[in-house]
Parts: sequence; C-alpha cells; structure tokens
Amino acid sequence: MKFNLIKTDNYSKARIGILETDHGKIETPIFMPVASKGYVKSVPTHELYKMYKIIIGNTYHLHFQPGVEVLHKAGGIHSFLNWKGSILTDSGGFQIFSLKKSNKITEDGVLFKSMINGSFHFFSPEKSMKIQRFIGGDIIMAFDDCPPFPCSHTEAKKSLKKTHRWLKKCSSYLEKNPEIYNYKQSFFPIIQGSIYPDLRKSFTEKIALLEAEGYAIGGLSLGEEKEQTHSITDLLTDILPKKKPRYLMGVGSPIDILEGISLGIDMFDCVLPTRNGRHGMLFTWKGIMNIKNKKWEKDYSCLDEFGNSFVDQLYSKSYVRHLFLSRDHLAKEIASIHNLSFYFHLLQEAKIHIMHNEFFYWKKSMIPLLQERL
Ligand code: GUN
Repeated sequence: MKFNLIKTDNYSKARIGILETDHGKIETPIFMPVASKGYVKSVPTHELYKMYKIIIGNTYHLHFQPGVEVLHKAGGIHSFLNWKGSILTDSGGFQIFSLKKSNKITEDGVLFKSMINGSFHFFSPEKSMKIQRFIGGDIIMAFDDCPPFPCSHTEAKKSLKKTHRWLKKCSSYLEKNPEIYNYKQSFFPIIQGSIYPDLRKSFTEKIALLEAEGYAIGGLSLGEEKEQTHSITDLLTDILPKKKPRYLMGVGSPIDILEGISLGIDMFDCVLPTRNGRHGMLFTWKGIMNIKNKKWEKDYSCLDEFGNSFVDQLYSKSYVRHLFLSRDHLAKEIASIHNLSFYFHLLQEAKIHIMHNEFFYWKKSMIPLLQERL
C-alpha cells in the first residue's frame, strides 16, 4: 500500500492524500460504507461502486456467513463480491465485545457464543489474522481489546496492555504466514486507552515507532463527551507519523466526520448513513429530514433539491414517505443510496475546501446547517 499526502490545510490539521492498494487509488479523507457480511444493506453493488472505491467488512460476520471456505474457494472476498475496489476488514474483536453477556476474555483471546446459532467459538489474535488472510481484504486490522465506556483508569490500563500483547501476536502471525492471494494486505494497529490521555499518549508513542502502514484510533464514540473524542483525537494525530494514514473507527455523523478531518483523520466508517437511512432518516445540506413525518405527506417536490444522486431527482418526498409507510424494500434502498451519496459529496466538498485552505471556515459554517431538523 502507498500513501502520499498531497495537501495540508493552512488553518487546521485537515489533509488530502492518495491511498493506493493493489485494488486501486482512493483519495482521502474517505468514508468507507459498512459491509459487515460482504454487502452494504439495501444497496446494490453497481450503485455503490458509482461513488465508493473502498468498503469495510467484518471478520466476525464473514467467519459465520458465508464462512471462510466459501470465500477461499471463490478466490477471496473481491472475487466473491465481484468488487473491483479495495476492501478493509475489521478484526472482529469489537463485535464480540459488544455481545458482553456471552463472552469470556482470557489472556489468549475471547470465548463467545455465536449470535447466529448459539454455538461457542474462540477468537484469538492469531485466529483473527488467519481468518483475515483467508478473507483477503487489502487492509486488515489488529485484534484489539476495546474496554467499555465508562471504565476506570486501572481497567483501561490492563486492557491496553492486553491490546499491546495481542498486537505483537498479530504481527508475528502475519510475518510467519504471508498473503494467500496474489495481492498485498496492509496491517493497521489499533490505539485504545479509553478517555485517558496518558494511556493513549504512551501507547501511541510506542506504536508510532513500528512503521506500520497506517494507524487506527479505536475505542471512541462509545458515549464519551464530544470534547473528549476531539481532544483524544487531537492528541493522537500530533503523535502519529504524518506520512501514514489515520483511521478513526466507527465515526460518525456528518459533523463528527468534519471535526475528525479537521484534526487530521484520513479514514472513517460508520453504519449511520445506511442504518438511519433504513429507518427514514435522511441527511441533507439543509439538515436532517425524517421522511416518515406527516409533514411530507403531500410534498411532491423532489426528495432532495440539492442532492447529487439520481434518487434525489427521480422520487418525490411524498412518494418516498409512502414507500416507507408501506414498508416496501425500495424505501430502504432509496434512503440508503441518498445518504451514502450525501456522505460521498460531503467529503468531496471537504476536499475542495482543504485544497483552497478554506476548510476551517467552511466547516464552521456547515455545522449549524447539518444540525438543523427539517
Ligand atoms: N470499530 C469501532 N471502534 C472499534 C474499536 O475500538 N476496535 C475495533 N476493532 N473496531 C472498532
């Protein structure tokens, strides 16, 4: 993987870069739509690919469905999905930890009960790396221990030490077990440490020396105050090597993304545009619209007059509301495509403003608009 910075904003830490995997070039900052099981819910691949050239899958989900054997026999995840762009896979740890009740964390890994059939499974750093080799993503993530929020300093420190030991196990597995498909996989460590600046700082200083191909910030947006998310992000992007991509995991809303860009983040992923879209929440340049609202019942104007997607001009607000109330699948598809298009164009706009050193002021002017409820 190559990463070249082409522009840094004069008034914030925002930057534009080109990230290149064996499956193509991607301009950063980038938002990656979530395709945990190998598809973005309700969005056909040909529509997705018109906008996005990288998506994110999940080791936990793909391990159960369709399973590693199916993916391997297909020749890896790109062939299975017929996806011409890049793919990043998360390590699965975070998803297992979210199923708090049914897991047991030991020094070696996590024993957990499958959501799908209730059977018991064990994931370790080595196992996550093995599965990620077989899945075949272009970028693969470290198997980390993400402590819950809130958690004490002592708990966060203990968990971070485990994340560090697991990181070493991941690296050593990958060194001994090279790629099984004919393209390169890049490995990103994940920074944890909850909301504690001292833990975050010392861990980041250590791993910054590793010369990893990119770095991820995990364990944020778990319920902490926005100022904490920003100050931790700000602290870490000052320590991380300038020439490597930084990925803020699981973030976020359009405002969170603009704040992240301003603090020097290059990559984002979040279920928000698709999950909220499926529930009728549409992000627009004028604010957030709940299309199921009675207010839109007889509004025959196009879905979004400032929208760039074909769905925005083709369908009316009244009609999309009707599709939602009728519970037709088309409603979810239209809303998801609309939201992904909005995110895509928000990042395109952000890049134009970074290019002209206007990002900071543009972001400030955008926040009140994005907060508006229509
Ligand atoms: N997705 C969102 N946050 C996290 C995190 O802390 N770790 C991992 N592995 N994935 C995430």
